[in-house]
Parts: sequence; structure tokens; C-alpha cells
Amino acid sequence: MTKDTSNQMWGGRFAAGPDAIMEAINASIGFDQRMAAQDIAGSRAHAAMLAKAGILTDNDAEAIREGLLTVLSEIDAGTFAFSTALEDIHMNVEARLKDIIGEPAGRLHTGRSRNDQVATDFKLWVRDQLDAAESGLLALIRALLSQAEAGADWVMPGFTHLQTAQPVTWGHHMLAYVEMFGRDLTRFKDARARMNESPLGAAALAGTSFPIDRHMTAEALGFDRPAANSLDAVSDRDFALEFLAASSICAMHLSRFAEELVIWSSAQFRFVTLSDRFSTGSSIMPQKKNPDAAELIRAKVGRIFGANTALLMVMKGLPLAYSKDMQEDKEQVFDAADNLMLALAAMEGMVKDMTANRDSLEAAAGSGFSTATDLADWLVRALNMPFRDAHHVTGTLVAMAEERGCDLPDLTLEDMQSVHSAITADVFGVLGVHNSVASRMSYGGTAPTRVREQAARWREIVG
Ligand code: ARG
Repeated sequence: MTKDTSNQMWGGRFAAGPDAIMEAINASIGFDQRMAAQDIAGSRAHAAMLAKAGILTDNDAEAIREGLLTVLSEIDAGTFAFSTALEDIHMNVEARLKDIIGEPAGRLHTGRSRNDQVATDFKLWVRDQLDAAESGLLALIRALLSQAEAGADWVMPGFTHLQTAQPVTWGHHMLAYVEMFGRDLTRFKDARARMNESPLGAAALAGTSFPIDRHMTAEALGFDRPAANSLDAVSDRDFALEFLAASSICAMHLSRFAEELVIWSSAQFRFVTLSDRFSTGSSIMPQKKNPDAAELIRAKVGRIFGANTALLMVMKGLPLAYSKDMQEDKEQVFDAADNLMLALAAMEGMVKDMTANRDSLEAAAGSGFSTATDLADWLVRALNMPFRDAHHVTGTLVAMAEERGCDLPDLTLEDMQSVHSAITADVFGVLGVHNSVASRMSYGGTAPTRVREQAARWREIVG
């Protein structure tokens, strides 16, 4: 074998090229080409810094800059020929740069390594996803907020154990998700602030003997500062894990809401009607309108959790610094990011388009003895009864109503007095669902007044 068959980037000491299987397991170009723009941005920042530091001539730096722009335009135009033999995006870009500008291309890799290069590219890519998740969440929060504003005083059953518990308002239920997605938003923001340190210039693992300026490249790439330890900079992927962890929690929230939409849109509940745009039909049952988007959102959480677990497993046994295992980080993150963004957009679309069926919500709100707690509270307030006794009296009245097949407000005053003689007609004032929700004025409670206050607070925040 001649040297020509070995890798042109690192083949100096190799007499033979890699086996086809070796090439197949080793190459990442099939997926890391998604980081082409980040790779070229990193190289441009590095070349400009090398010139400023006197490590590259201005002429070479200019040739590199121009050449990299050409490479980027070829990639954007879809005319770039990616090569598996060149392993990854870093070497594909550099090799093409050499075709275009010749010798100066070989000077670009001074004072850096693929280890800091890949960490930089991947951080830039993940940073964009953190921003995308934030915008996706903001859009979803706005859609939920519109629902909450429209139905601040619509009543519906609130559940615990999926059994009717107490009446709540539609707006209150929507705002519960606004709170959850609001916390997700801050998780992505926190992760972004923590990860925004530049690995570039950490080189292979130990830093470099060239007089590079890491502050300059960090600034050019929008990082807050260079990472302070070169070993850490090339070898941790906690930024990707934080993205996956925050994505997992967000996907879990999306999934819970999706589950509610599946239940609510069923013929048995009819709490909401999903739009045709976000439903599908059945090829055999003409009456069907299926909440497929909600079901798929509910399922997405599995692969996002899976990605998080997979990357934790990849990382957990690795000694410092870089190991090739870490190449397995990208596909997990790419897949999780794609699916999270899709799920956020689909949920936003569904929420924007869906109609809450006010009458069904109200009818359901009053059934299932949902105002039993209001009755017990009334006994405490009006008759100064200890709550435990009030609970017992109310339980007896619920049993009576259940036996008659009616709801609490349908019992007569005589019925009530047969259980406790001091009960007066005033009690009927608290048995209606509207009175019930209106009375829950405690901070964070379901009263329409409180819901409107919280909706206004969120509107201020998200616009
Ligand atoms: N394709 C590699 C990755 O994604 C780039 C870094 C390779 N570094 C090395 N020392 N072989 O991790």
C-alpha cells in the first residue's frame, strides 16, 4: 500500500487506509453535516484570530475567509460532495477548502484540534436549539393565554384521580400549563446562560503553545467567555445533557396536556373540539375524527427521554479528555431537538385552533357532587361546625343524593334538615358551580378574578 491510500488529514504514519467497516463505524459525516454552518463560523473566527495574533499572514487569512464562504455556499446550494473517507464535517470542509485555495488551507488547523472544534460546533448548534425551544414555548404560552383570557369564567370539572373533585375555570386550567411551560422556558434560558463558554482554542486537550487569543474567538462566536479549563472544554457534554433534560421535562408537560386533549376530545367528554386542520379521519369508520397530533406528542416524550438516557450512558464511563464515544452525542440530540420543536409547534397549532365546548364543560362541572366541599365549607362558616363534622354531614347528603340519582342542589331543604336541622336555605347559594369557583379567591385560586389577574401578568411577560 502506498501512502496515498491513507487518510489525507491524519495518514502520515499510516501505510494502509481503513477497512470499509472501519470507515463505516468511524464516519460521522452522515449526520454531523448538520453542523456545517457552525463549523465554518468557528473556522472563520479562528482564522481571523490567527491573523490578528500574527500566526497567519493577512493574505492567507483572507484566502481562508473567502474559501470558507465558497464552501458554505456550496453546502447551502446542495452541490457539496460529502465524503465518508473524510470522516466528519470538520475534515470535509478543510479538504474542500484545500481544493479551492490550496496551501493556506493547511495552515487553518494551527493551534486547534478537532476536539475543540467539534465541541465548539456542537455548542453553537445546541445553543440555537435552546433559542428555538424558547420561541416555540413562547408561542405556545401565548396560545394558551388566549384560551385562558377567553374562558376565564367558564366552569369545568377539576379532577383528582380523574374523579370529579371541585369545579374550576377553563382559564385556570389553561394557566396551569402556562406555568409549566413558563418554567420550561426558564430551564432553557438557564441552560443557555451556563453553556455559553467557548471551547475553541482548548485544542486537543491541553491548550496550545501558539499565542492564540481565545477571548477574541469567544466574542466573535457570541460566547460570553472562553471555557476556563481546556480538559473540561473538550470533554464534557453536559450542555447537551442539560438541553436533553430540559427537553425531557418539557416533553413530559406536552405529553400530559396531549393526554388531556385526547380525553377531552372524545365523544364521552366533548370538552373540546379539535380543528380539522389538527385531526385525521379513519379510512374505515366515517364518523371518526382522531386527535393524532396529540397522540404523537404524547409519544414523542419517549424518544426524548431515550436520547437523554443514551447520552448519559455514553458519557458516564469516559475518562478525561476526549474519547470517540462522544461522537455518539449528536444523533441523539438532533433527533430530540427535531421532535421537540415539532411537538411544540403542533401543540401550539392545536391550542390555537381548538374550541372549548362551554356548555359541555358547564354541564360536567355540576355533576359528580363537585360542590360537596363548598357545602362542607358552608357548614363550617354558617354553623360554626368543626370541618371534620361538616365533612361527615356532607358525606351523608352526598349518599342521599346518589341514592336518589340527583345532584346536591336538587335535594330539598327538608332533605338537608333531616341530616342536620340547623341547615338553612342559604346553603343553596354555595351549591351552584359559578358561586363555587367565584368563592375560591385565595391567591392562585380558580376564581375568575384571580385567573384574569394571572392572565394579565403573563400577558405582560410574553406579549
Ligand atoms: N467526528 C468527531 C466527533 O464528532 C470529531 C472529533 C474527532 N476527534 C478525534 N480526536 N478523533 O466527535
